[in-house]
Amino acid sequence: MKGSALSQLGQRTAEPPISWLMAAALEKPGLISLAAGFTDNPSLPVAQTREIVSSMLLGKTGQAPLQYGTTAGEERLRRITARRLAKADGQPAKARAYQPDRMLITHGSQQLLYILTEILFDPGDIVLVEDPSYFVYLGIMQSHGIFGRGIRMEEDGIDLAHLEETLESLKATGDLKRLKALYLVSYHSNPTGITTAAAKKAKALKLLRRYEKAAGHPIYLLEDCAYRELRFAGEDTPSALTMDRTANRVIYTSTYSKPFATGVRIGYGLLPEPLFTAALRVKGNHDFGTTNLLQQLITRALTSGAYEMHVQKLRQRYAKKASTMMSAIQRHLPEGVKWVQPAGGLYIWVRMPARLKTDLKSKLFKAALRQKIIYVPGNLCYADDPTRRKPNREMRLSFGSASIKNIEEGIARLGLALKRVM
Ligand SMILES: Cc1ncc(COP(=O)(O)O)c(C=O)c1O
Repeated sequence: MKGSALSQLGQRTAEPPISWLMAAALEKPGLISLAAGFTDNPSLPVAQTREIVSSMLLGKTGQAPLQYGTTAGEERLRRITARRLAKADGQPAKARAYQPDRMLITHGSQQLLYILTEILFDPGDIVLVEDPSYFVYLGIMQSHGIFGRGIRMEEDGIDLAHLEETLESLKATGDLKRLKALYLVSYHSNPTGITTAAAKKAKALKLLRRYEKAAGHPIYLLEDCAYRELRFAGEDTPSALTMDRTANRVIYTSTYSKPFATGVRIGYGLLPEPLFTAALRVKGNHDFGTTNLLQQLITRALTSGAYEMHVQKLRQRYAKKASTMMSAIQRHLPEGVKWVQPAGGLYIWVRMPARLKTDLKSKLFKAALRQKIIYVPGNLCYADDPTRRKPNREMRLSFGSASIKNIEEGIARLGLALKRVM
């Protein structure tokens, strides 16, 4: 039969580029994957979780976590999470942006990103994204028929001059009406490891405001802070919530996945109205509430101090893994290769000398595969933006899940692959 019963979204949604990489990692014995976004296995909080779960399920107290909860999430978790964020930002708990009634608990922050996309955008709309950006979010955009416009990156976040230039050109072509948001992965970004400077977030917010009149609606700053707690060097940076004078233009999303356990997948966000109400309704349709058992698990981890202790340990662990990877890069990768030194997160963004391609079809990727090492090709992290060519000489290396030994060995193998093709 010729016709398809799939909806437009069903037909449009492309296969996630990462699925091939994941499958390759499983299929090839001995392959070292520096591609996966997984976290460190040996340090997962198994004993702490076992203790919490068994005390949670004692007697009658065990009934509540096994029951449905509310759509917005567990009251206590919303309150504690909102308070933690206010504290991290150096703001009073009573500040408007941090009120628990703005807090939505979701199944990973991924679900929140999806719901936000559903409530904000129609096919044909535009999102400004960092160039490069989080490729799974680029996938959500592609699936919804949303266009990305990439904003060039500097060492401390987006290039504000390029942001302004892009806004100006959208205004000139009458396309501002389709622009609803700027999406930033502002802490130890996936994929670049870059943290956006506070001053840049403040200026970006101001700039977006300036173009709202021509757009005819609010333009939001969607701040994805998934890696904020995985900082292992330097000071924390205030979130854009602290710069949002009217407390109604910044959407803050984050997660307990990365700093505690990725298998638990509890995400959260602070949303201004009318987004909170719209998101709550859509979340009601998705699942009318995140798994109660897991929410209660995280709540107990937070209130018992187990969470804080675990994050401290993780930070040290990732600091060691990152430094192992950086010194291996220095030793094994040839001159001309540049990389961004991360102060947190799970990734190192590496740029090859000019002319050396890194995509899945490139000589380098194939040579790396022969050496049994894989990376995420950088071109997969760029939005389909027709105003520029996608760069194709970068790679994302993750020090999250590989062991210290495999990080060393993996970079040495990558060095061999590079020698073969250079
Ligand atoms: C930038 C970014 N945002 C959001 C997520 C989603 O994480 P989770 O759904 O586990 O909270 C990820 C996961 O890799 C990520 O890298």
